[in-house]
Amino acid sequence: MTRLWHGFAAMGAVDDAEFVVARGDGARIWDRAGREYLDASAGLWFCSVGHGRQEIADAAAAQMARLAAHHCFLDHANEPALALADRIVDLSPFDDGAVMFASGGSEAVDTACKLVRRYWNIAGQPQKTAIISRQHGYHGMNAYGTALAGIPGNLEGYGNAIIPDTLRVRWDDPDDLEELLDRHGERVAAFIGEPVIGAGGVIPPPEGYWAEVRRICTERDVLLIQDEVICGFGRLGEWFGCQRYGIEPDLITFAKGVTSGYLPLGGVIAGPRVKQAFWAAGAPPFRHGFTYSGHAACCAAGMANLDIVEREDLVARVRSLEPVLVGLLEPLRELPLVGEVRHVGLLGGVEFSAEALAERPGLADRAAAAIRQHGVCTRGLRGVGIQISPAYITTEDELAAMVDGIAAGIRAVAAVVV
Ligand SMILES: Cc1ncc(COP(=O)(O)O)c(C=O)c1O
Repeated sequence: MTRLWHGFAAMGAVDDAEFVVARGDGARIWDRAGREYLDASAGLWFCSVGHGRQEIADAAAAQMARLAAHHCFLDHANEPALALADRIVDLSPFDDGAVMFASGGSEAVDTACKLVRRYWNIAGQPQKTAIISRQHGYHGMNAYGTALAGIPGNLEGYGNAIIPDTLRVRWDDPDDLEELLDRHGERVAAFIGEPVIGAGGVIPPPEGYWAEVRRICTERDVLLIQDEVICGFGRLGEWFGCQRYGIEPDLITFAKGVTSGYLPLGGVIAGPRVKQAFWAAGAPPFRHGFTYSGHAACCAAGMANLDIVEREDLVARVRSLEPVLVGLLEPLRELPLVGEVRHVGLLGGVEFSAEALAERPGLADRAAAAIRQHGVCTRGLRGVGIQISPAYITTEDELAAMVDGIAAGIRAVAAVVV
C-alpha cells in the first residue's frame, strides 16, 4: 500500500498500481522493473535538456557544499541568485527588468497576481483588483492559479471563486476581452494568458491573437502577464513564447525549463513599467517573497542548465525539430477516435473527437495507459487529448518512435469494442 498521495489522482484507483520511474538518460526513462520508455512529455513539460546531465548535478552539488541556501529578503542575496536574475533579464524581451524568484510556476503566478495588485495600489488606482484569464488556461494550483483556472474541474469544490475578482474570457477571441473590459474595465488590473495553452490541450493562439490582446491591454491600461511556465526557455523555438508572437508583455512568469526540472525553481520577470514603480526613490517595498526565493543551489542548477541550452544551441534545435514533429503528427488525424491534431514549436496535442469522448468515458487516460504499454510515457490532457512535449535533445528517430507508440496506443484503445 502506498503512502504517497499523488497529485490529481483518485488514490483508490492508483493504490498498488503506481508507475515508479527510477532512472533517466536523454529522452528515455526506466521504471523500477527496468523497463525502458521514451519520455514524450519531458516529465511535466520541464526536462528540456534531457535526463542524466551530470553537469547540472555537479553544479548543484558544488553550490550545496559551498552554500546550499541563503535567502533574498531585505538586503540579502546570494551569488547564484544574482547571476541567474541578470541572465534571465538579458534573455527576456525587456530592455530593463527584475526577477523575483519562487520555487515553481504556481508560486510565480501568485507572485505576479499580487504584484499587479500592489502596482495599481501604489499607482493610485486601488480599484483595479480584477484579473482576467482564458478558457482552457492553466496557471497552477496555488490560490490565484486555482481561481484563474480555465479548466472547470480544477475549480470544482471551492465555491464559485477561491479568490474573488477573477474573470474569464474565451480562449480565442480578443473581442470577448474588449466587451468584458467595456463592462468591468475600471476595475481590471491584469490579463493573464499562456502564449500557447498547455495543460488545457496544447492550443496555439489564432493568427494575430496576441497582437490584438496587446493593443487592447495598452489602450485600456490593463497589465499583460504572459504565463511562460511551459513556453519559456525555448519550447516554442524562441527564448520566450511572447517573442514568437511578437509582443512584449508587462510581466512574465517562468519555471520548468529554467532548470529543466533538476531542482525546483520559478519566478516572475517584471518589465520596466512595473519594476520602476517599485525601484523609484521612496517607493514602498513589495512585501512578498518565499523562504526559498532565489535558493542558491536551485539557481546554480539553473545557470548550468542555461549553459547547456546555449552551448548546444537548443533553442535553434527546437526550431529545426518543429517541422519534423509536424510531419510526424499530421498523419495521426487519420487514426480512429482522433478529432484534431495541434502543434507549435516542440509541443503537440492529439485531441479525441467529441463523439469518441462521449462514447468512451476516461478515453484520454486509457489511451495514455495504452501508449505506455507501447513504450512511450505521456499523459492525458484535460481529459480530451494526449500531450507531446519531448526534450529538446530528442533525436529525429526517437521522435518518430514516440509518435509510433502514441499511434499504436490509440489504435489499441480504438480496437476495444464499447
Ligand atoms: C502555464 C502554467 N502555469 C503555472 C503552472 C504551475 O507550475 P507548478 O506546477 O510548477 O507550480 C503550470 C504547470 O504546469 C503551467 O503549465
